[in-house]
Amino acid sequence: MKIAILPGDGIGTEIIAEAVKVLKALDLKFEMETADVGGTAYAASGHPLPEATLNLAKASDAVLFGAVGDYKYDNLERALRPEQAILGLRKELGLFANFRPAICYEQLTHASSLKPELVAGLDILIIRELTGDIYFGQPRGRRTAVDGHFPGSEEAFDTMRYSRPEIERIAHVAFQAAQKRNKKVLSVDKANVLETFQFWRDVVTEVHKDYPDVELEHMYVDNAAMQLVKAPKNIDVLVTGNMFGDILSDEAAMLTGSIGMLPSASLNAKKQGLYEPSHGSAPDIAGKGIANPLATILSAAMMLRYSLDQAEAANRIEAAVKKVLASGLRTSDIYSEGTQKVGTVEMGNAVVAAL
Ligand code: IPM
Ligand code: MN
Repeated sequence: MKIAILPGDGIGTEIIAEAVKVLKALDLKFEMETADVGGTAYAASGHPLPEATLNLAKASDAVLFGAVGDYKYDNLERALRPEQAILGLRKELGLFANFRPAICYEQLTHASSLKPELVAGLDILIIRELTGDIYFGQPRGRRTAVDGHFPGSEEAFDTMRYSRPEIERIAHVAFQAAQKRNKKVLSVDKANVLETFQFWRDVVTEVHKDYPDVELEHMYVDNAAMQLVKAPKNIDVLVTGNMFGDILSDEAAMLTGSIGMLPSASLNAKKQGLYEPSHGSAPDIAGKGIANPLATILSAAMMLRYSLDQAEAANRIEAAVKKVLASGLRTSDIYSEGTQKVGTVEMGNAVVAAL
């Protein structure tokens, strides 16, 4: 088994180091190889996703990814920005199924922006389609408008589109995930306005016929944004398109009190996967040794479970993280009075000790 380790930018290096430490402590047999990605790769070789990095990712069973992005690259042309690395990996590896759990840990209930009773025990699984929609739809670009409100003026355009197989495969993923949970799928769309999402609703409804044991509900995205803050515990599996999933998964992450705790997985049809924390590169705290490594450590656990067939090792990591939280150790993002503040490295060490 081979794992590509891509730390990236900002706090990426610090948090990945802790996850690697935990993986090594498991005493399993896998090969790990590290490569540059994002702004770091651009600075070293002129491209955010160098060919060597892409080839390493393709040749690996799984990719453990830190984070990319830094203000200093904000003025680069789009094709060279750090974000292109993650978009390129998703596209090149065909990572169409993105799992973003939003779990509220018992000890962190008070850290949520919502009242504790609304989020205690919260456990939502957002499944975001990751390789289609307006993110990748062609054509896109700039041109002179020939119609619309201002013909003759400069305009920009993107294309929202989904094909039947793209919707079918993500719907199957969602129903199968729900079968292992509370057997409820909420499909989020904008069928009242967009043809793409009326089609989405039609296809999800058809695929649902294969899963009579799962309850399916459809909801418009604006309403879903409200329900997430009104009664989030009514949601089990939420499946949606690429752009709505981008937005709603950040909203759901906030409900849990700390985005520093949330892992994510992006899988292709061969169960090859990219695993990364749900948070970004946090350039404001990079190099300070205070970032929370738990989302990355929990991403490594998801990697063991979904791509490397090591469910038991994954359970061990997750149990160790719960134990560390119960012992009162907190990085500053989840710190509260009466707990003990620790840095990135101490947190990683504590997880290793708790294994
Ligand atoms: C995410 C990020 C990315 C996205 C960016 C960095 C391209 O926000 O993983 O949610 O929009 O998908
Ligand atoms: Mn996002």
